[in-house]
Amino acid sequence: MDRNLEGKVAIVTGGSRGIGRSIAQTMSQAGARVMITSRKADACEEAAEAITKETGGEVTYVPGNVGRSEDIERVIGTTLESFGAIDILVNNAATNPYAGPVIDVDLPRWGKTFDVNVTAPLAWVQACWNAYMKENGGNIINISSVGAFSTNAILGVYDITKSALIHLTQQLSAELGPNTRVNAICPGLIKTDFARVLWEEGRGDQVAQMYPLKRLGEVEDIAEAALFLATESSSWITGQAIIVDGGGLSGFGTPSVSL
Ligand SMILES: NC(=O)c1ccc[n+]([C@@H]2O[C@H](COP(=O)([O-])OP(=O)(O)OC[C@H]3O[C@@H](n4cnc5c(N)ncnc54)[C@H](OP(=O)(O)O)[C@@H]3O)[C@@H](O)[C@H]2O)c1
Repeated sequence: MDRNLEGKVAIVTGGSRGIGRSIAQTMSQAGARVMITSRKADACEEAAEAITKETGGEVTYVPGNVGRSEDIERVIGTTLESFGAIDILVNNAATNPYAGPVIDVDLPRWGKTFDVNVTAPLAWVQACWNAYMKENGGNIINISSVGAFSTNAILGVYDITKSALIHLTQQLSAELGPNTRVNAICPGLIKTDFARVLWEEGRGDQVAQMYPLKRLGEVEDIAEAALFLATESSSWITGQAIIVDGGGLSGFGTPSVSL
C-alpha cells in the first residue's frame, strides 16, 4: 500500500483526540502537513505538539467549532496561508447529545445533531472546494458509523445523521469527480471518550465477543483506513462507505451497542 502523503496538506476536524488525532498522526507520519481543529485550544495545542514530536512533521492547529462558518473560514484561511494547499479534508468531529427513541426527541437536539454531523461536513466541503479543491483537486473523507446501517433503541437520531452523511458522501462523489474523491469510513465500536459509556466497566468485552474478530476497534484501525483512502492506493475508489468494525455487521449477533 502507498503510505506516501509527502507534499500533501490535510485538515482533520476533531483532531485533538480519539480517531481524529490518530488520523492526524498517521497522515503526518506519511509526510502530510496537517491542520487540526476542535473547540478546545489547549487540547489542540497539546495534540499538535505531541504529534509533531512523534513524527517530526509539520502539524498546526486553529481552534473552532465545526458548525460555525467564521471558524471554518479561519481554519481554511490559516491552512492556505501556512501550507498553501488543502489536499485532504477529514470530516471527523461529531456529536451525540440525545439518547432515546427518535419519536421522543426534542427538535433542538435533533437539529443540533444534524447541524454538527451533516450540515457542518457539507459546509467544510463547500469551503474547501471553493477555496482550493475546485481548481486543484482534493480528497474528502467523512467519518460515518456502522450505526448508519441498522436501527437502534437509543441512538436512532445519531444513526440517522450518520446515514445521511453516507448519502451526502455518495452525492458529492458524483458531483466532484474526477478531480476530487469523496469517501466515508464507518467505524464499529472504538475505544474513545465518545463511546466510553459503551465500553467501560467491562461492557466492551461483551460487544467484542459479538464481533467475528473478537476485539473492539482501536483508533489506529480507522486511521489506517483513512490513510488508504487519502493515498493513490485508492485512486479508483470514490462514493464508498468502508466499514471497519471487526466484522460486527456480519457477525451472528449484530451488536446493538455502537456509536
Ligand atoms: N468511538 C466510536 O466508537 C465511534 C464509532 C463510530 C463512529 N465514530 C465517529 O468517529 C468520529 C470521532 O469520534 P471519536 O470517538 O474519536 O470521538 P472523541 O474521542 O470524543 O473526539 C471527538 C473530537 O471532535 C471534537 N469535537 C466535538 N465536537 C466538536 C465541534 N462541535 N466542533 C469542533 N470539534 C468538535 C473534540 O474536541 P473538542 O471537545 O475540543 O471540540 C474531539 O477532538 C465521530 O464522527 C464519531 O461519530 C466513533
